[in-house]
Amino acid sequence: MRLIFLGPPGAGKGTQAKRLETLHGIAQISTGDMLRAEVQAGSEIGRQAKAIMDSGGLVSDEILVAMLGARVGQPDCARGFILDGFPRTTVQAAALDAMLVQLGLGIDAVLSLEVNEAELTERIAGRFTCRQCGTGYHDSFKRPLVEGICDVCGSHEFVHRADDNRDTVAARLDAYRRLTAPILPHYERQGLVHRIDGMAEIDAVSAAIDDALISVDKAQPFTSN
Ligand code: AP5
Ligand code: MG
Repeated sequence: MRLIFLGPPGAGKGTQAKRLETLHGIAQISTGDMLRAEVQAGSEIGRQAKAIMDSGGLVSDEILVAMLGARVGQPDCARGFILDGFPRTTVQAAALDAMLVQLGLGIDAVLSLEVNEAELTERIAGRFTCRQCGTGYHDSFKRPLVEGICDVCGSHEFVHRADDNRDTVAARLDAYRRLTAPILPHYERQGLVHRIDGMAEIDAVSAAIDDALISVDKAQPFTSN
């Protein structure tokens, strides 16, 4: 199963992609997480990406395409993958098409999380993640079951993202509208897009995604490669 999550910052891409990763045992590929790991490691890519990410802009297509190309060839992607945050421009979408043709693979579904932009800032401002395993939480919508302890790995350490502030969110939304939303028609023409109400509660969004994937499965059973 190979899926793409599309949606603006805070739409719930990471939340839902992580859940599907656990449920189906297929790799979540979050280009945002990969870039943050590069920043953390102090690599050349991380050095170039940091200022752009902190300002809410998009890192260069060249870097992202190379990064994604290397990632999808790794063994944990053999059973499929969930793209979370890629493609984000028409150039990246074309590069992904070319990559998949070369590998003899296709995309099974594009899940578009439809949200009211006015509420995204609140979602992003309340977000925090487990430092150890990356599980995402929210001050109001998804607190750990036991306060201060990660539900998944038991860690006591949580982090806030450097780009989760009001000014950067506005720039990220602007980049989404100008550069990312225009790639949706490309996938609509291929009949791959499933529009999901991303404003519903997290569990209801998960259920809608599961329904969409069942309909895809019936039309064209998922293969293991
Ligand atoms: P990236 O890390 O991809 O960030 P983003 O697209 O801005 O999206 P977010 O991670 O903020 O939101 P999300 O949709 O994952 O929401 P989440 O599930 O966390 O990218 C960061 C930066 O890296 C970019 O700005 C860019 O600079 C760079 N970059 C990355 N990929 C790139 C690329 N391909 N090309 C160029 N540059 C790239 O949910 C948000 C919060 O809401 C959480 O707290 C969650 O618990 C909560 N929540 C989720 N669903 C619900 C719900 N249904 N109801 C209530 N709360 C909910
Ligand atoms: Mg995310």
